Amino acid sequence: MSRRYLPFRFSPAGLRGLEPSATLVINERVNEMWREGKWVYHLGFGESRFPVHPKIAEALRKNAYQHQYLPSLGARELREKIASFYEERFNIPAMPDHIIVGPGSKALIYALLLALDGELMLPTPSWVSYQPQAHLVGKRVNWIPASAEDGWELKLSAIMEAVDEAREAWGNPGLVLLNSPNNPTGRMFSMGFLEEFAQYAREQGLAVLSDEIYGLVEHGRVKHRSIARYYPEGSVVLGGLSKHLSLGGWRLGVAIFPPNRAGAEVLRAVRTIASETWSATTAPVQYAALIAYGMDEDVWEYIQLCTYLHALRTQYLWRALTAMGIRVPQPDGAFYLFPDFQRWREPLARQGIHTDTQLAMYLLDEFKLATLPGSVFGAPPEALTLRLSSSYLDMETAKQSRTIVAAAQEVDGETLMSEFHPHMNAAIEQFQRFVDSLERDKAPQPQAVYA
Ligand SMILES: Cc1ncc(COP(=O)(O)O)c(C=O)c1O
Repeated sequence: MSRRYLPFRFSPAGLRGLEPSATLVINERVNEMWREGKWVYHLGFGESRFPVHPKIAEALRKNAYQHQYLPSLGARELREKIASFYEERFNIPAMPDHIIVGPGSKALIYALLLALDGELMLPTPSWVSYQPQAHLVGKRVNWIPASAEDGWELKLSAIMEAVDEAREAWGNPGLVLLNSPNNPTGRMFSMGFLEEFAQYAREQGLAVLSDEIYGLVEHGRVKHRSIARYYPEGSVVLGGLSKHLSLGGWRLGVAIFPPNRAGAEVLRAVRTIASETWSATTAPVQYAALIAYGMDEDVWEYIQLCTYLHALRTQYLWRALTAMGIRVPQPDGAFYLFPDFQRWREPLARQGIHTDTQLAMYLLDEFKLATLPGSVFGAPPEALTLRLSSSYLDMETAKQSRTIVAAAQEVDGETLMSEFHPHMNAAIEQFQRFVDSLERDKAPQPQAVYA
């Protein structure tokens, strides 16, 4: 053992092979470049950046004096509000006693993975943190394959095959993670898929962790439906305030457990972990969340406005990339795009680019485009995928975000995109320059003639 760090010794079990989350690392790198005065178009970080709604900000201010530890499950009044909110907006059974409030849904997913037995079935691609979290708790991950040709659609047949394969290898695939709207693809499940999947999960006795943090950020193409409508007895639904209300830094997430005895038992396990780790979610934030989960008309309208803007900006970027001939599945929700560049495999190889990480570095260095390689989401590196987030461009500062929200109420979508999105349009031009350079390089190269 290396003596370099003694007297500290690291635990190899969970940490080996892990690095800080790729999304946070790219964000820090871009911020560092900005500080050094280097310009970068930030498509690397999925942070919803609209201003805090004034009523919610006011509630936080008024509750600053709330300094007591609240129950590990969360304040009772808040859980009542959350239950009504989910019953009304998501159409799922939700009981206040079967809900826990935590410091972000990320911590709740971690607690669930720690509490529940069984290997984790993860769709390809999946949000960056599920796999490392499983690794940290010593849980095996089985990837469910999908492909760029099918727009990375999760198919029931692929889930069935991956579960069978895991069992044939003496595994114990007990948990399936679903995420819709999806990070990184923006895709959402159809009702048909959910119905069929529910039947299969019930037959096979599979538990489902359903990450629905983007559930209210739907673009209007597909209606968000929770798996808990079709498989209430086996699904734990995760959500929070980070996305539709841009409150990621406030750290408030929720988990809704099945309305039965099993649900109560799983909640008891997660509550135990909560009580032994973070104790309870920050009290003033919970009181402010009473407004966020209340049925306040203004807050609801604001959620609708932010969703409209996410959809407008993301679909705009999707249309522009598609027009350049880049293959990218059309998103149904959230604020992400997941293009692949396999079409230009040869010209890229001539530049020494064989993997998505090399591609992301090249775009950052040569075209000032900060993106994330798809492999951190579990896509094969040679599939040459990138995850782009539309949420940051032209909202780099609080002032710009306020300008966009104000303008959205005055001008139409087209004007908003052409006149209030200089960085988005410039980033699109950079992609065009990149594609043009690949197209030029695709043409047969003139042979050098030596006398
Ligand atoms: C798919 C997905 N799940 C969960 C989270 C974590 O959200 P929270 O802020 O509630 O921890 C994120 C945040 O990026 C996400 O993209």
